[in-house]
Amino acid sequence: MKATCIVGSARSTGSTAYLIDTITRGMREAGAEVQKYCIGQANIRYCLGCKKCYTDGLCVQKDDVHKIVSDILESDWVVIAAPSYWADVPGQLKTFFDRNTPYGDTNPNRVLRADKPIKGIAIAVRAGVRPQENELILNAIQHYYGHLGIETVKRISVCETDSLEDLLTKHPDVIEEVYELGKNIAYKGERNEP
Ligand SMILES: Cc1cc2nc3c(=O)[nH]c(=O)nc-3n(C[C@H](O)[C@H](O)[C@H](O)COP(=O)(O)O)c2cc1C
Repeated sequence: MKATCIVGSARSTGSTAYLIDTITRGMREAGAEVQKYCIGQANIRYCLGCKKCYTDGLCVQKDDVHKIVSDILESDWVVIAAPSYWADVPGQLKTFFDRNTPYGDTNPNRVLRADKPIKGIAIAVRAGVRPQENELILNAIQHYYGHLGIETVKRISVCETDSLEDLLTKHPDVIEEVYELGKNIAYKGERNEP
């Protein structure tokens, strides 16, 4: 079982990263091969909007995007976690989504696409109380998954979390849930169970 797990935060040591590290740990302990990326630390340039990729499915820019998307499309599972920044995904993650235009189903000439079913998990973290705001983050991730042919099977919303300390003290149940989820997914995947 292969998985790609993405920290969609500017920071690689915060609450979002902790949740990705936790699900990654569960997956690896159950035997999965997991590739992890921190979108804030990756080399990802803005989309230029040139639409050259509409003619040949390739981006004119050479950076980390092609490798990340290649790993995603070779995976059985993808996990993207993002904090709320102004009630949306962080700009770094939005930039990554924009740069997926060569690989999306609206591109008539895409050359790289999934050749098997991929399942997706979306995780949203926010400081505020209302879960409705996290729905926007989860919808953005699910929208991305939809255009890449990834089926969203789980959405996890974490509120009242403005730091790693908040996550550890207020949400040990979520940490446990995410760890078990990672383990179960990988365990079933290794055994080829549905
Ligand atoms: C630029 C910025 C904008 C933010 N905007 C919101 C917001 O609109 N709503 C909210 O609930 N939290 C907001 N937050 C708080 C983050 O969602 C919260 O601190 C989260 O835990 C950060 O994730 P991290 O620990 O992975 O960095 C914002 C944080 C930053 C840095």
